[in-house]
Amino acid sequence: MPKRLPDRAARRRPDGGLSRSGCTDMTIGQPAFHVSEVSPLQPPVPAPRQSALCADLPSTVPFVGPEAQQRARGRPFRARIGANECAFGPSPRAVAAMATAAAESWMYGDPENHDLKAAIAAHHRVAPGNVMVGEGIDGFFGYAVRLFLDPGDTVVTSRGAYPTFNFHVTGYGGQLQFAAYEQDRENPPALLDLARAHSARMIYFANPDNPMGSWWPATEVQTFIDRLPPGVVLCLDEAYSDFAPPGTLPALDVENRQVLRLRTFSKAYGLAGARIGYIIGESSVIRSFDKIRNHFGMTRMAQAGALAALADQAHLSEVLGSVAAARAEIGAIATANGLAALPSATNFVAIDCGRDGAFARRVLAALIARDIFVRMPGVVPLDRCIRVSAGVPADLAVFAEALPEALAEARRD
Ligand SMILES: Cc1ncc(COP(=O)(O)O)c(C=O)c1O
Repeated sequence: MPKRLPDRAARRRPDGGLSRSGCTDMTIGQPAFHVSEVSPLQPPVPAPRQSALCADLPSTVPFVGPEAQQRARGRPFRARIGANECAFGPSPRAVAAMATAAAESWMYGDPENHDLKAAIAAHHRVAPGNVMVGEGIDGFFGYAVRLFLDPGDTVVTSRGAYPTFNFHVTGYGGQLQFAAYEQDRENPPALLDLARAHSARMIYFANPDNPMGSWWPATEVQTFIDRLPPGVVLCLDEAYSDFAPPGTLPALDVENRQVLRLRTFSKAYGLAGARIGYIIGESSVIRSFDKIRNHFGMTRMAQAGALAALADQAHLSEVLGSVAAARAEIGAIATANGLAALPSATNFVAIDCGRDGAFARRVLAALIARDIFVRMPGVVPLDRCIRVSAGVPADLAVFAEALPEALAEARRD
């Protein structure tokens, strides 16, 4: 049975007895020390000092996961189509490789990620020295800002773009400047202007983009790269690159020290829960990550799973076909309800709900109330949309059934 910590003991907790939510009523499994040692006369032990930077950070998180939402709601979702995961699953060969590796998990993974790095390098026809392997793109954001930013440095991104990057920039003391989306796309010239105006050290740009699913052709992205101000690092987030139409990705240029190409096994390869990504970049920059990365961050299962997934390109092709069909189905559902689906080069579709953000938020809430996990962009004017991931047919059937009711409810409010 969990024991309740006496109030006086709670005051000895390093955070001064307050959990993150400000709640003092914390239930724990085992007291961390002998309660009898606490004298009523003893003054509370001061909390350990956090760094000035961390003490000032807001207690915000980039996302509230579907699991937290399910706990809060007290019931599961019927369709999980909100986080752009790959509902079609990983390659069965990757699953088998991870099962074998699970039994070998008493050993640490290879801290150099040698075999996976070599396979990724061969796949992209670059040298292993141009590849950094790690715990997903979200993890790389932290490493990249640590590598390139000093507190107070400016970083440029788009207002409404993928928020986890901003979380890490703020976490390392960077200052964010935001360019606006234009016609539902990130705006490279505006990002460049802002970077010049603020002497920025980094720019974040996702192609294809989340949350809108929009994209730029490779020629435009190359122009963007060619115009980077000296010394600026471009974090080119290509999480959705596998879904993009031909002609979207500029050629890999591993001589360019200013560009980090961020890729992941979380989306098309269906391994989001295994946490595997990689960066392709110039070799001296890639080597610099060794100074700061978590050398044992990759599990043996993740390494084996990614290696097998990469080798199974037939499964990848199948997934890409299923995702394209799901995108078309989401488009058809939107049309049937009098809504417009935005073109998408990803495994999700932004659906324009036709009114303002308040209306789209009501639609979202009504879908969630019907046990459908979906998300939406957070800022005007992107927030006129809801964002629906390419689920399996059963997920989309549930969505198709619930959307007319959700719209009716949102219109009533
Ligand atoms: C644009 C973008 N970048 C990065 C990620 C996260 O990638 P990873 O799972 O490799 O951390 C996501 C996930 O939704 C994303 O949408």
